[in-house]
Amino acid sequence: MRVVVTQPIHREASEKLRSAGLDVVESAQARPVGGQELADLCAGAAAVITHLTDRVDATVFTANPQLRVVANVATGYDNIDVAAASGAGVAVTNTPDVLTDATADLTLALMLAVARRIPEGDAMLRRGEYTGWQLMQHPMGLDVSGRTIGIVGMGRIGRAVARRAHLGFGMPVRYVGRSPGHPADDAEIGARRVGLPELLAQSDFVSLHCPLTPETRHLISAAALRAMKPTAVLVNTARGPLVDERALARALRAGEIAGAGLDVFEREPEVESELLDLRERVVLMPHVGSATESTRRRMSEVAVANVLSVLAGDPPINPVS
Ligand code: GLV
Ligand code: GLV
Repeated sequence: MRVVVTQPIHREASEKLRSAGLDVVESAQARPVGGQELADLCAGAAAVITHLTDRVDATVFTANPQLRVVANVATGYDNIDVAAASGAGVAVTNTPDVLTDATADLTLALMLAVARRIPEGDAMLRRGEYTGWQLMQHPMGLDVSGRTIGIVGMGRIGRAVARRAHLGFGMPVRYVGRSPGHPADDAEIGARRVGLPELLAQSDFVSLHCPLTPETRHLISAAALRAMKPTAVLVNTARGPLVDERALARALRAGEIAGAGLDVFEREPEVESELLDLRERVVLMPHVGSATESTRRRMSEVAVANVLSVLAGDPPINPVS
């Protein structure tokens, strides 16, 4: 049986496929594929391991009735037409859990970097502009401890951020989420479920952790940004299109909010040029939420484990639907 791997994964993981006797066709290039090209690439394949930058649409399924599983090396799967996959009887899997801590850690890092202006201070010092401690010296930051955090999407990552923020920084937690909260956990981390308008109005930090769907696209619109406090910071380590990036650049310039920490963008790898021009309390990272050696390795392993499970006739370990 053939397994197509669209972009490189860790060698130990692809070796596992080979030692299971599978015919592994692995691209040596980290170049996203989609559409007809991906459909052609999957010829004869029972499984395909995809990356979040690939686009898996209905063409792939109509052209490949032999396909049994698409294993995405990511927790998000907005790059895959899951309805078309289900219609074709193809399992879709993701890699949740293994990247929860790394992504939550990066979220806190962004909050702190924006609030305490870490890149600005570092750049200032390297320019030779640090001339000695002064009481009213810049760059002056925003408080984090004790401030309110609003979490949009209380899944695994949202909850991990809430725990860090509350238990580590004493931050009251407000959240919006699809599923009802876990009352015991909510009590432990001082979390209260609210509506989005209340969350936007009350939070000093608004952090996004929901999946990208037609309903959540541009959830953070110009109006949502206007509803935030002028002293608030927006953090996005989920998916870029959750935020209207143009509107965000305008809101930052107009002082409607105080700052932003972004790990994801609307049209990656492009970044809105107006955002690139903003340096004060704006920190931009190249989609590295899960980027630690061990986390990325485990993501490869989980994708492979899902493929092996489905091809062995067992249920997928991490089905997305
Ligand atoms: C990263 O963005 C992921 O979805 O795993
Ligand atoms: C990701 O796995 C999430 O549930 O937030």
